[in-house]
Amino acid sequence: MYWLGIDVGTGGTRALLLDEQGKIVSSCTAPHAEMRMERPLWAEQDPDDWWRATQLAIQGALREAHTDGAAIKGIGFSGQMHGLVMLDAAGKVIRPSLIWCDQRSQAQVDAIHARVGRERVVQFTANPAITGFTLPKLLWVRDNDPASYAQLKTVLLPKDYVRYKLCGELGQDVSDASGTGLFDVANRVWSRPMMEELGLDPSWFPIVFESAQVCGRVTHEASSATGLLSGTPMVAGAGDQAASAVGNGIVDTGIASCTLGTSGVLFAHMDQPAYDPAGRVHTFCHAVPGKWHVMGVTQGAGLSLQWFRNNLAAGVSYDELMTEAATAEIGCDGLFWLPYLMGERTPHLDASARGGWIGLTARHKRADLIRSIIEGVSYSQKDCLDVIVEIGVEIHKVRASGGGAQSPLWRQILADVFRRRVTTLASQEGSAYGAGLLAMVGTGGFASVQEACASCIEETSETDPRTRESMAYSKGHQIYRTLYPTLKATFPLL
Ligand code: XUL
Repeated sequence: MYWLGIDVGTGGTRALLLDEQGKIVSSCTAPHAEMRMERPLWAEQDPDDWWRATQLAIQGALREAHTDGAAIKGIGFSGQMHGLVMLDAAGKVIRPSLIWCDQRSQAQVDAIHARVGRERVVQFTANPAITGFTLPKLLWVRDNDPASYAQLKTVLLPKDYVRYKLCGELGQDVSDASGTGLFDVANRVWSRPMMEELGLDPSWFPIVFESAQVCGRVTHEASSATGLLSGTPMVAGAGDQAASAVGNGIVDTGIASCTLGTSGVLFAHMDQPAYDPAGRVHTFCHAVPGKWHVMGVTQGAGLSLQWFRNNLAAGVSYDELMTEAATAEIGCDGLFWLPYLMGERTPHLDASARGGWIGLTARHKRADLIRSIIEGVSYSQKDCLDVIVEIGVEIHKVRASGGGAQSPLWRQILADVFRRRVTTLASQEGSAYGAGLLAMVGTGGFASVQEACASCIEETSETDPRTRESMAYSKGHQIYRTLYPTLKATFPLL
């Protein structure tokens, strides 16, 4: 018997098969088409491209395990959060999705706060409105593409569209719904007051489930498209951050995760929903019933290095970039990278923030450019950690995952910057793995998410902070923190 975890990411969709012990037996990623960036800070993808990639990923994972749909006991989902999927009365996609990193909706954020009041938005949803969330994207469509808005019958998030294609049922889960800006996170239900204040029809927002709840079964049509057996049950799943936290075992207090993918996310578990009144970190429902989480987001984490490689080091592998970075001194001789390539969330909540190097001299080498990117992203993650600690969440250890965590150099820099032990896990799969574990919990493989994590997750490396380096980075972080406020007024002029 196997379980299938599907992660609808930004770059591609990944499918994993897990066996009864929660071991990964096969995996396959099908890439998505490039996201469309028609203007700076705009980002769109086609939901049907995610569905196309999902079919390929499922077929690939089944093929690699030399098995077929009859062996799959349950399916779980994870997905990029916040993306706006609009369906019409026939269940068809109306227009391309404005995805999580799309930053075009600042006017709508301002309008929401003006209409509802920022404090009341936080009171209703545990977070202020930000351009990253789904609600401002929906209002942008209302204001700028009324023909599409007029056809709207259902709002979904990316993974929920894929699940809808597989099971024909509309639904969302509490963790992903938390990132819409329309969800009453403390009570785990849609926020009627927000909908009423903004004139949104509650029927557009489908029923929400807890992440490990079964909410549909593979249809006949989806069975032919994927090779899965019709009737195979699926659970609601979770937003990629909550799913990744399950995959990293962040289901108890004291341990945080740092996921360095395209974005960088510092994530901690909470027994009760604490929130930052300034909204610098997000308070969302966890994929564990009756639990919450808080997370801070660096918009351009792995993206910073990817941008560097694509534009300034074509053909050089990430491993080679890391080796080169290791030749530069700590602090890069006063060179700082601001990772605001797609604006910034934590702690600035500023869609107009721009990235760049500060402190270049003629003496700097490419190695300094690379290392400063790693350090700048790590400082930004430390900003996230500091806010989380400030609202009363204790963190004594950080589990690192995602592409960036593959690098021992980056892990050491994180440990030194965080001044905390950084560990890695046997499974580096994060969100797709978490999706698979949620499927196991929902369909009889484990009794609870906590039990699944306790039995499947194993730490394999530990990196401890070093005293002298931590002190140097602490000074560096203080300087880094002066840069954004100095440049803040300039960014909107660019
Ligand atoms: C989380 C977030 C990103 C996306 C893309 O708030 O925006 O992590 O989910 O992965």
